Amino acid sequence: MSRNLYINTTKCKKVSRPPIWLMRQAGRYMSSYQDIRKNTPFKTCIYTPDLIKKITLLPINELQPDAAILFSDILVIIDALGLDLVYKEKQGPIVTNPIQTPKDVDNLSLRYKDKIFSPIMQGITACKKSLDPLNIPLIGFAGAPFTLATYLIEGKAVGNLQKTKTFYYHYPEAFQTLLDILSNNIIEYLNLQLEHHVDALQLFDTWAGLLPWEEMQKFSITPMKKIIQQLKNSRQVPITVFCKGSSLTASELCKTGANVIGIDWQGDLVTLRKELPKDIALQGNLDPLLLFAPQETIKAKVLSLLDTLKDQNGIILNVGHGLLPQTPYENVKFLIDLVKSYRY
Ligand code: CP3
Repeated sequence: MSRNLYINTTKCKKVSRPPIWLMRQAGRYMSSYQDIRKNTPFKTCIYTPDLIKKITLLPINELQPDAAILFSDILVIIDALGLDLVYKEKQGPIVTNPIQTPKDVDNLSLRYKDKIFSPIMQGITACKKSLDPLNIPLIGFAGAPFTLATYLIEGKAVGNLQKTKTFYYHYPEAFQTLLDILSNNIIEYLNLQLEHHVDALQLFDTWAGLLPWEEMQKFSITPMKKIIQQLKNSRQVPITVFCKGSSLTASELCKTGANVIGIDWQGDLVTLRKELPKDIALQGNLDPLLLFAPQETIKAKVLSLLDTLKDQNGIILNVGHGLLPQTPYENVKFLIDLVKSYRY
């Protein structure tokens, strides 16, 4: 039921209600996730097939959203490239040997792809085994080249992309080479996910919204378009592209060939739905902090949004960026139940 609902919505077919899933739906706002993390480092969680399955399924078992997203991270590509990536408690991911010169780019290759990708693929197989009988689709994903490049160059979660922009202004050719290397690696990685029967894919270009218009075209849209074109997607699984700032750049994201655009929480979903091509679905775009509001406020906001979208097809309810660790668990459950009991 959820699988058809999700897939039909990505095709902009008429459905009885919007499907719902949430970015970062398996995460620290869940005490069951925290219990696992208490004794297990994050990297062990994302590279142990059994834990990948267990954590992917936590929100499915507890909250029943309409889709599961693979428990993993966009930065696994950085591990596969053999750079030193550590997840520090409270600081997030750090690359201790970031790229500083064009020579560092020339030395990059997918050195550890078998070691890194194989437990993830086993995890996908394990997830599918549990999810297929429940009719829940599994969404695989990857980081887009530009966002991965920012982590490779900045070495950590970024503010204003000073190092990345300095690099691309000084070394335009090396930066393009870096994006090409990452694009090829991402194509290989996503093709593997497709071979392991994921039901959908999402590309996260989280930081592309910090680019000026021209660079956004060159470094975000063009590489994502190339990736989508070159995937061996014979089952035509739906592909979503997401970017923080997508409410400003949605018309450009539509040119990537994606089936779904993930809209950030700042734009007006109703206006965007009216303006954007009718055969492209939109995903979003609740403010993750709306979940900190009283339940009657959540209810009023969500019902008003859904009522306004009643005559439109192709809406997947989600947040406009990932759920925060402090999010009240009971409000996530409340939101999912609310959307699941709604009828157009
Ligand atoms: O959505 C999901 O539930 C699926 C799993 C998922 C994670 N990261 C798990 C994770 C997905 C899809 C991602 C994507 C991701 N990772 C992005 C793009 C989306 C976005 O949020 O902008 C980015 C930029 C990353 C890089 C990353 N990984 C950061 C910045 C951090 C630290 C910040 C944070 O939220 O703690 C991580 C770690 C990470 N990835 C955690 C989780 C559940 C937290 C790990 C922990 O401490 O338990």
